[in-house]
Amino acid sequence: MILVTGGAGYIGSHTVVELLQAGREVVVIDNLCNGSQEAVRRVERITGKVVPLVEGDIRDRHALDAVFAEHAIEAVIHFAGLKAVGESVAKPLAYYDNNVNGTLVLCEAMAAAGVHRLIFSSSATVYGSEAPVPYLESMPRGSTSNPYGTSKAMVEKVLEDLAAADERWSMALLRYFNPIGAHPSGLIGEDPQGIPNNLMPFIAQVAVGRRDELAIFGNDYPTADGTCERDYLHVVDLAVGHLKALKALEAPGVSVYNLGTGQGISVLEMVKSFTRVTGVEVPYRFGARRPGDLPAFWADAAKAERELGWSTERSLDDMMADTWRWQSANPKGYAG
Ligand code: NAD
Ligand code: UFG
Repeated sequence: MILVTGGAGYIGSHTVVELLQAGREVVVIDNLCNGSQEAVRRVERITGKVVPLVEGDIRDRHALDAVFAEHAIEAVIHFAGLKAVGESVAKPLAYYDNNVNGTLVLCEAMAAAGVHRLIFSSSATVYGSEAPVPYLESMPRGSTSNPYGTSKAMVEKVLEDLAAADERWSMALLRYFNPIGAHPSGLIGEDPQGIPNNLMPFIAQVAVGRRDELAIFGNDYPTADGTCERDYLHVVDLAVGHLKALKALEAPGVSVYNLGTGQGISVLEMVKSFTRVTGVEVPYRFGARRPGDLPAFWADAAKAERELGWSTERSLDDMMADTWRWQSANPKGYAG
């Protein structure tokens, strides 16, 4: 049985589908601060399997102890956390509490239950603003520019120290680049609350008529078309990466993997691809740069291919088509 923290959220729900379809048993703990019960119900519809959902907080040691007592957990995939960069600047304590303290409490509960296999959701943001592209796992963590990024870098360090102190721990730190897209069923996808911070859900909400136009944050970057470049990968490919990492969790210690395609795509190319694939126009205007944005970064994803046998299989067109299938069938997300 695999414990998935944050399994009612975007990446977690897609990973639970892949786990169940691979024959794994899963229990989810989620406090539903940014996830929904409906996402878990839809995972059950896709897979035809029951997913126990514990509505609880990973900072609540008693809730965790009860989960470990009730289920024979072999490993934990840890998605639970807060992820909005801008909000983290305004509410740093909430981010350190959820992301750092939450992980400490989780690790204490795991150790007490004798569970030492952990997969952690890290981010490309830990490379910091000075790293040359493409990012390689052997590069040092850099200076992060917001509390969200700092919380991910701190947790990575904490986990490395923990694994160094006790060789029973086996951990994978997965550094995601930019996950987008949705399950091809159209039943689950990204459902941000309020105004989306991220590009793809914003494009999708403009396309479905929830927002008038996209503001492209800057067109004077030193890139081919002046807009920022990112490494967008399909969320189902990312989910599959967790299964591969889980299978490889045998040796003691910490392994770090970039999960990306290895290719940068510009904001303008994203908008054009969406329209080409879906036929839906996305009105946009160029606006000011967003503070803290880097011009361009993408992964060197060779290590994951070499050691895990993982590489992305879904194309940019798949990402666009699947995003639109989800958004057009669920214009208001899980709310209807
Ligand atoms: P999400 O917000 O959709 O999912 C996170 C889930 O965790 C939500 O369902 C939320 O309700 C739950 N949660 C938050 N705090 C909790 C707590 N204290 N106790 C229990 N549950 C809690 O986000 P996501 O996009 O699915 O991201 C999953 C993980 O991947 C996060 O750790 C995020 O930082 C990391 N990550 C995401 C991206 C991205 O672009 N989406 C990129 C890099 C890393
Ligand atoms: N963008 C726009 N308009 C929007 C939203 C985004 O032009 O309305 C642009 C951004 O300026 C950026 C690109 O689209 O150039 C991608 O932006 P996202 O917010 O989708 O993604 P980021 O690369 O900025 O952020 C992601 C994750 C963060 C993580 C960060 C660094 O969402 O969790 O990568 O790794 F911290």
